[in-house]
Amino acid sequence: MSKRILVTAALPYANGPIHLGHMLEHTQVDVFVRGHRLAGNDAIFLCADDTHGTAIEVNAAKRGITPEELVRQSAEQHVRDFKDFLVHHDHYGSTNSDTNRRWAETFYEKARAAGHIFQKDVEQMFDHKAGRFLPDRYIKGTCPVCKSPDQYGDSCEKCGRTYDPRDLIDPKSVLTGEKPVSRNSIHYFYDLPKNEAPLRAWLDSAGSVQGEVRNFAETWLKEGLKPWDISRDGPYFGFRIPGEKDKYFYVWLDAPIGYVSATDEWCARSGRKLEEFWGKDSTAELYHFIGKDILYFHILFWPALLHDAGFRKPDAVHAHGMLTANGEKLSKSRGTFINARTYLDQLPPELFRYYLCSKFSPRLEDLDLNFDDFIGRVNGELVNNLTNLFSRSMQIVTGKLGGRIPRLADVTDAAARDVVLAFERDGLPEVGRLYTEREYGLAIRKVLDLSDYVNKYIQDKAPWALLKTDPAAAAQVLSIALNAGKLVAVAMHPVLPRFADLVARMFKLHDGPGEWRPLIARDGKADLGGETEYGPFVRLFERVEKKHIESLVAATHAEAGAAPPVTTPTTTAAAAAPPKKKKEEKKGEAEPPALIGIEDFGKLDLRVGLVKEANLVEGADKLLRLTVDLGPLGMKNVFAGIRKSYAPADMVGKRVVVLANLAPRQMKFGLSEAMVLAADDGELCRVIQPAGDVAPGNKVR
Ligand code: 2FM
Ligand code: ZN
Repeated sequence: MSKRILVTAALPYANGPIHLGHMLEHTQVDVFVRGHRLAGNDAIFLCADDTHGTAIEVNAAKRGITPEELVRQSAEQHVRDFKDFLVHHDHYGSTNSDTNRRWAETFYEKARAAGHIFQKDVEQMFDHKAGRFLPDRYIKGTCPVCKSPDQYGDSCEKCGRTYDPRDLIDPKSVLTGEKPVSRNSIHYFYDLPKNEAPLRAWLDSAGSVQGEVRNFAETWLKEGLKPWDISRDGPYFGFRIPGEKDKYFYVWLDAPIGYVSATDEWCARSGRKLEEFWGKDSTAELYHFIGKDILYFHILFWPALLHDAGFRKPDAVHAHGMLTANGEKLSKSRGTFINARTYLDQLPPELFRYYLCSKFSPRLEDLDLNFDDFIGRVNGELVNNLTNLFSRSMQIVTGKLGGRIPRLADVTDAAARDVVLAFERDGLPEVGRLYTEREYGLAIRKVLDLSDYVNKYIQDKAPWALLKTDPAAAAQVLSIALNAGKLVAVAMHPVLPRFADLVARMFKLHDGPGEWRPLIARDGKADLGGETEYGPFVRLFERVEKKHIESLVAATHAEAGAAPPVTTPTTTAAAAAPPKKKKEEKKGEAEPPALIGIEDFGKLDLRVGLVKEANLVEGADKLLRLTVDLGPLGMKNVFAGIRKSYAPADMVGKRVVVLANLAPRQMKFGLSEAMVLAADDGELCRVIQPAGDVAPGNKVR
């Protein structure tokens, strides 16, 4: 039976353009939704702009426009960028809408009625000159831990530590350059710990979060949930808290509520009911797709708010890794922080969609846009394989056969016919299933296999030569090719909607100007042939060359030089550590370490761990990601710098020694929760192992 499915992507901030990082997520969702439709389900994709907060207000003032105007301009641009990237949202709303205000107030009132809102006096940094409290990102100074200058008020980009902005050395307001002072104000808090039980129940429910995400959640629950500050003092662009004069809901409170208001607006337009999707007894499926950087909000705060409001919780929060370029974080100075529009000015959207999808999996690893690999895959797979299938066969069909081919049933080569029919019968449903399981890379592989087969078939049979001796046999070869081609287009439709559209037009499957009969599962039949005249032939994809990438990077550079917005980190902060510092570090290594007492050693919780899983880490050629069983301490996720000496398979099943009470460290690949000990002579490294079969979790002293 057809399922009803509501899917969302994280709401992009209205204070900046859409970039390729956004496109990663929206493409992932777009393909998921189209894949569900391919599988016969009734799926919708909703999103909105996330419009509130200090950044919007400050940026609007800088540009001499109202925040509402800035939000309007952003929305216009965002919608255009998504559309041109072939991302289809069934509705794209805004969190600065009446609908969202109503729902924000309702959620707040419900949380209050549940006894989960309280007030508390908090001390915060205040900029006298600007007359406002400063969010952490609006304060800069020297890191209190590693002493790096020019670091944000909440965390250091150099050493990765987080801290209280009051501990920053020599703090300055980003807005005025003034030294901020501490000031008190009453804030509203959401009492998250009160909802620990329902949160645990939801996190334990099958499929709610990915395995790695469950580990993060375990850590957060173990550390203890904390009340959440949900108010901000004016001036602030947001919804005023009911009953207050100058206090507003924090942007992150009303942002996820935007998922509900977007649904509400879509329902009003489509004659559907909100309860169908969000009601406690909803039988629809609900999925949120997000980046792994905003997990805390989506797997703790959001389900808790939904619980208080008497709404259902999502079936799953699907988190993905971040987009990197050539193995590194996207960077303006390297020209890799590429805006969607800049990309679209240089290259067709489907190349990026294809590249992403060919590498997507349901796991949390970062996804690397490697420029050489991009060129290789586009030319090798999209052009030489997929496009070639159509160009070779369609040119003969239109040029020599008057656009006509025999029906597949009339093809005498039973083996080739069976390959096509097997794909129609088994391949297509499997590809549909793989899309719904977010295994896009595997789905594409299956399609490429069919296309590969047909290309070889055409090559072997050489219909261009056969035409002269046996034109009927040549036409049969082309029937195999075009019927397979139709299935290829149906199967690739979620990833390459424009390509599928062009193919549909060549095959006369569209119903008229501006409309075409979508190539969906119900139409996934190898039924071309007979009297219909196919064509004309249109070119599908062109080769991409290094110069295209170079001009993309150059255009990105040029934009970065123009006017970096106030909210983006300066490029100098991301630059490598100066060589002088490195020398000092080297010198430090040569000195004998200071003596410690036994009580210092006692602080180390060393344990025996059993490696259950080991994986390569995309974008980090020195690391392996290990899942280590520590017995009573549970499973830990560890990023270990041992790749130079171990392949993943070497590590699985090994007993190792683990520093279990090392403070967890958020790396760009994920959270590292412990350390695996190894001896390293600079060339080789060898993990330290207990001599016998000691149980995981045993102490090492
Ligand atoms: O991280 C972000 O870009 C946020 N604007 C995402 C919000 S998602 C949802 F909660 F609204
Ligand atoms: Zn630091």
